[in-house]
Amino acid sequence: MWQAPEDDLFSDNPEADYAKRAREVGGELTEDDLDVDRTLRPKALDDYIGQERVCDNLRVLIAAAKKRGEPLDHVIFSGPPGLGKTTLANVLANEMGAKIHTTSGPAIERTGDLAAVLTNLEEGDILFVDEIHRLNHQVEEVLYPAMEDFFLDIVIGKGPAARSIRLDIPKFTLVGATTRTGLLTGPLRDRFGISYRLDYYTIPELTQIVKRSASILGVECDDQAAAEIASRSRGTPRLANRLLKRVRDYAEVKSTGVITVDVAQRALSFFEIDELGLDWMDVKILKALTQTFRGRPVGLTTIASAVSEDPETIEDVYEPYLLQCGLMIRTPQGRKATRAAFDHLGLVPPSDS
Ligand SMILES: Nc1ncnc2c1ncn2[C@@H]1O[C@H](COP(=O)(O)OP(=O)(O)O)[C@@H](O)[C@H]1O
Ligand SMILES: [Mg+2]
Repeated sequence: MWQAPEDDLFSDNPEADYAKRAREVGGELTEDDLDVDRTLRPKALDDYIGQERVCDNLRVLIAAAKKRGEPLDHVIFSGPPGLGKTTLANVLANEMGAKIHTTSGPAIERTGDLAAVLTNLEEGDILFVDEIHRLNHQVEEVLYPAMEDFFLDIVIGKGPAARSIRLDIPKFTLVGATTRTGLLTGPLRDRFGISYRLDYYTIPELTQIVKRSASILGVECDDQAAAEIASRSRGTPRLANRLLKRVRDYAEVKSTGVITVDVAQRALSFFEIDELGLDWMDVKILKALTQTFRGRPVGLTTIASAVSEDPETIEDVYEPYLLQCGLMIRTPQGRKATRAAFDHLGLVPPSDS
């Protein structure tokens, strides 16, 4: 029987391929994560592992706001999916003793939706808007005075009978999350008093996260195994938790249920996650850069069409980690594979690179 070669770059049936190999290592939230996320999400700043600069900073701001008896200034968190933006928004609410209302940019379609949300708030409440860069223009315009001066100008009626009324709204804290601050419009970005960028986690931090999660899930996982899972989690807590769950399943079926480093390694290679935590899509991108383009610099849209993915997803989801690992660099001429990428794939770099 004919079999597609392992390194076939351009699959005939990407959809089927995709379904078959649904990303084990994407940072994006999947249905499957929802329950786990809820149980494993730290509730207090002291349980939040890593991002020390952000946490120390927040501790001071929270203490100061509490001392003054005022709501916190508006906060924006940015960073790739799965790094803890939603978690931090909830931690903030807990630490402030505030009620949190959660919505997202795409969910607020019309200005009326925003008005409904805002007029529902009480003094000191936190409004968490996920994917805030996806708010539409009209909604954003209404949000500005709400953030700055806590009022809403809304237009009632149409045509000549239309009139605008001003509604006061309680002092609230807007907490926004976005994958990249570059996606926010300038005026919106300027209205956040506090802005944090979350970085990828270190392996020791992720090891701690895996150990914490294992103990919450009641799974036995030794230190070395936790470190193994951590090292393949692409710097992302959501992935660390997801891999832990997969490894646990594997350990239950194929072993005694205890996660040892040997079980972890076998499970992770069974799920096709390599030592750097790269999945087939990352590898596909690297192969395009190293083989198709032979290490020459190429533009984002060219890469995107070579791997049949949209440029935005490549830029937001895949590229940051490849850059972080030093497998890809951005030059004024375009993106290119590094020597490390050739090494990682076991390829010989072209002699002119
Ligand atoms: N600092 C952390 N310490 C422990 N677990 C974390 C941390 N940050 C995130 N997590 C875990 O990762 C999951 C994903 O985090 P989340 O806040 O939903 O990411 P984001 O909103 O940035 O996509 C959470 O459910 C939580 O279990
Ligand atoms: Mg989130």
